Amino acid sequence: MTANSARPYAYQRIVVLTGAGISAESGVNTFRDNGGLWENHRIEDVATPEAFERNPELVQRFYNLRRAQLTEVKPNAAHLALANFEQEYDGEFLLVTQNVDDLHDRAGSQKLLHMHGELKKVRCVRTHRVYDWSDDITDNTLCECCQQPNLRPHIVWFGEMPLFMDEIYRALQSCDLFISVGTSGHVYPAAGFVELATQAGADTIEINLEPSQVKDAFQEHIYGKAGLMLPMYLTKLLQACQASKDA
Ligand code: OAD
Repeated sequence: MTANSARPYAYQRIVVLTGAGISAESGVNTFRDNGGLWENHRIEDVATPEAFERNPELVQRFYNLRRAQLTEVKPNAAHLALANFEQEYDGEFLLVTQNVDDLHDRAGSQKLLHMHGELKKVRCVRTHRVYDWSDDITDNTLCECCQQPNLRPHIVWFGEMPLFMDEIYRALQSCDLFISVGTSGHVYPAAGFVELATQAGADTIEINLEPSQVKDAFQEHIYGKAGLMLPMYLTKLLQACQASKDA
């Protein structure tokens, strides 16, 4: 582990970005740690609009399995530490996740944006209405709004626009601390958030198992498992923010 301690400064607007690494200790596979395969599939075979057009059954089956897997996993210490921090911290806080699992939600995070969509939601391809969803989608699953088999996973695939970008950019442009956890920095726009936060004058820290693709853009680094490093870091950060406020 290499770590600089949190600065004794009362941060007032914190943005946290999380990626697949934060869910790894819950048993959810990351995207790039298995020889480029995600659950035995190449990403472009299951996570692009072209893949869905070419082979909708394969793509639906793939996401049905991911959705079903959520019943077998639960939030780990890193998800819980973020939810707890948000509750205790009295500044502005925004958690942006690239993850499509529901582990931050179940941990109790409130100000949370799923920029790459959510497994527990589906969308009508015709009306774009979004529904909460826990079951499989099959050939016979009809959409509530048009009574046709028009549902697709509410997931942002490669080539599609991530969600909530206006809100995310606004928060980044005014944050004074940006924390990135468990993301490899391969996928934009999320990988560029550190640059925007830096331009806003924010302090920046990367917490990851290993240096990410964009490590050089961060001022501070903590390398190790999120389930261990993040709770330790957030405890210190909360103390520093509270002490600085009381002073
Ligand atoms: P990646 O799989 O690219 O990266 C996960 C990162 O987490 C790696 O840098 C790992 O070293 C790190 N990691 C693994 N275990 C960890 C642990 N226990 N604690 C801390 N870090 C750990 O996943 P993302 O960066 O999230 O997009 O991928 C970004 C996007 O690419 C995903 O949202 C997805 C994917 O294609 C879409 O589906 C649109």
